[in-house]
Amino acid sequence: MHPDRHTLPSIVTSLPGPLATAVIQRDDKVISPSYTRSYPLVAARGEGAMVEDVDGNRFLDFSAGIAVVSTGHCHPKVVAAIQHQAAELIHMSGTDFYYESMVQLAEKLAGLVPGGVPRRVYFGNSGTEAMEAAIKLARYHTGRKQFVAFYGAFHGRTMGSLALTSSKNTQKKNFFPMMPGVHHVPYADCYRCAYGKHPDTCAVECVKAIEDPLFRTVLPPEEVAAIVVEPVQGEGGYLVPPRKFFDELRRVADQYGILLVFDEVQCGMGRTGKMFACEHFDAVPDIVALAKGIASGLPLSATIARAEIMDWKPGAHASTFGGNPVSIAASLATLELLENELIDNAARMGAHIQNRMADFPSRFPVVGDVRGLGLMIGIELVRNQATKERAPDLRDKLVQMCFERGLLVLGAGPNTVRLSPPLVITREQADFAVDTLAGCLARLVTDGTA
Ligand SMILES: Cc1ncc(COP(=O)(O)O)c(C=O)c1O
Repeated sequence: MHPDRHTLPSIVTSLPGPLATAVIQRDDKVISPSYTRSYPLVAARGEGAMVEDVDGNRFLDFSAGIAVVSTGHCHPKVVAAIQHQAAELIHMSGTDFYYESMVQLAEKLAGLVPGGVPRRVYFGNSGTEAMEAAIKLARYHTGRKQFVAFYGAFHGRTMGSLALTSSKNTQKKNFFPMMPGVHHVPYADCYRCAYGKHPDTCAVECVKAIEDPLFRTVLPPEEVAAIVVEPVQGEGGYLVPPRKFFDELRRVADQYGILLVFDEVQCGMGRTGKMFACEHFDAVPDIVALAKGIASGLPLSATIARAEIMDWKPGAHASTFGGNPVSIAASLATLELLENELIDNAARMGAHIQNRMADFPSRFPVVGDVRGLGLMIGIELVRNQATKERAPDLRDKLVQMCFERGLLVLGAGPNTVRLSPPLVITREQADFAVDTLAGCLARLVTDGTA
């Protein structure tokens, strides 16, 4: 039976149930052990914000397949667009041939990116491909080889983007040497400011440090192709910088002729309550990378640059599958839904959830910080609010407890729980999630685990 998108979780077996257990045992023998599964969910079908497992348990999905199913699971309009396109033309390779929908989506995306300047679009299939394109384009256009990236960043796992990634060392272990020329600096993590400052009064020391000591001592700025930044840092812990962080990054970039690359793979596509997270800060990228929520679950990514920057010649970069017609049809349907209703819903539901969780730090001593924009919300767990000692074990326990109660959430960073539901959630579902989290946190505290 299909779950009703407006109903709430219902757990009918022990978890994992018998059918899920059987799948997991088979998975264990044949699937790459490099995958990280937080809990034993074996999904069978989904609708809206609900996912049903193979044993008939129904979950409220506050992970959205890692922030991907922006319009919810199997939105009827997205499904119809996919079905229609699959019967017309599944693949032609837009790198060698033309088809109109690719142009249509590029025109749409180019017009959506803030800045009001002409832009060109390169299509790929994943976030990491969007970033590889951004890296190569930045080198190609500037003729420079060096990059500045941020601690805690996640930009992907292929050999170019992996060099920029810096959220966990397991992602790099045994894969050296990396692409040379990447220099990491502290992100604007205002809860744990690397310079001991407060966001209201700081002088954006984290950006000043790019000029001094980095540029002054080790990295000639005229050799830097791009500064690469997530407008809201995702895998690093759902960190929201202050607006002046972006003002300063733009100043530094312009002063030294450096490109500013925004990785909106996780924070883009309406998740934060605006189409792109950078719009919250009136920040304009030279190059922006999109993926995840762009096509509601079909593989698609876009690297969008100012037209005069995307000046590479035929053959410089391409992909057989990038921008395939079915993914593009899903994306066009997704964008229509986002613009018509879901970005507004993300803003409304996000504000509601954050209002309801604002008192979590005073109610639960294990909560150090609650932060976010729209439906990109992080809850950071600490052992001690005064020392801010991280509590990764409590975070993992909280994620597990939520699963047992029918709420799917994921971790981000060492000790943060991330809420990244589909943008279709109802108020009832938002309240269920907040109540479940509150109940689990109370339990964590009374159990004395804290
Ligand atoms: C900000 C960001 N950039 C890039 C990526 C890589 O995307 P993919 O896993 O599709 O390669 C991710 C994935 O989580 C991400 O969050």
